[in-house]
Amino acid sequence: MTARLFSFMGGDTGLWQITSMQTHLGEPLPAVRRLDITSNNHDSTPQATWILRGITSNERYVTRTEHDEIVAKQLALGRPELTCAALIALRKNPAWWALSQDERLHIFKEQSQHTRIGLQQFASLPRRLHHCRDLAEPQPFDFMTWFEFTPAEVPTFNLLLAQLRAIPEWQYVEREVELRCVREDNQK
Ligand code: HEM
Repeated sequence: MTARLFSFMGGDTGLWQITSMQTHLGEPLPAVRRLDITSNNHDSTPQATWILRGITSNERYVTRTEHDEIVAKQLALGRPELTCAALIALRKNPAWWALSQDERLHIFKEQSQHTRIGLQQFASLPRRLHHCRDLAEPQPFDFMTWFEFTPAEVPTFNLLLAQLRAIPEWQYVEREVELRCVREDNQK
């Protein structure tokens, strides 16, 4: 069965060493040294300082053409050369969630060009979007976004982030915490 439910655990153990934690908006997260990621409720780090969960879901905002382009260009997560990663946890404000689906689509697509910017800047970027509002237990964020890239791709990723933070959609973001990580296969 394909894993859908993911837990991001901040603490002293895990494959990913955290190199920076930046709070862009709202409350910070408690500082931690490492990040562990597990799927389908296999919480391997019960002593974690924090656990953030999210679940993959169906698409809400893409046309068939965009979907096909994404599938054709996006590369898989977990390849050995992808030694850098970013976890960006986001919460949108009540004004966003009070909109109807067609209003959100208009902001996401027509006003913000989120998908177009992503495809133009870094179409191959391995990533996974997790929804948190779809879980039974209330979560501190609405979305957990996970990205993996090579050290050489860091500037491209940074440019993409700067462009996305300037789009109208981001005006609805009320909490955003960004963790940068490097993979350490033989952790101490
Ligand atoms: C190659 C780069 C990227 C591409 C192609 C891309 C594409 C997309 C697409 C197609 C969706 C809509 C999925 C759906 O139909 O429900 C989406 C949603 C989303 N993306 Fe991106 N994205 C990229 C990068 C990023 C980055 C860097 C971030 C975080 C900083 C991000 C954050 C989000 C969030 C939070 C959503 C959910 C929006 C919502 O449902 O309200 N994306 N992205």
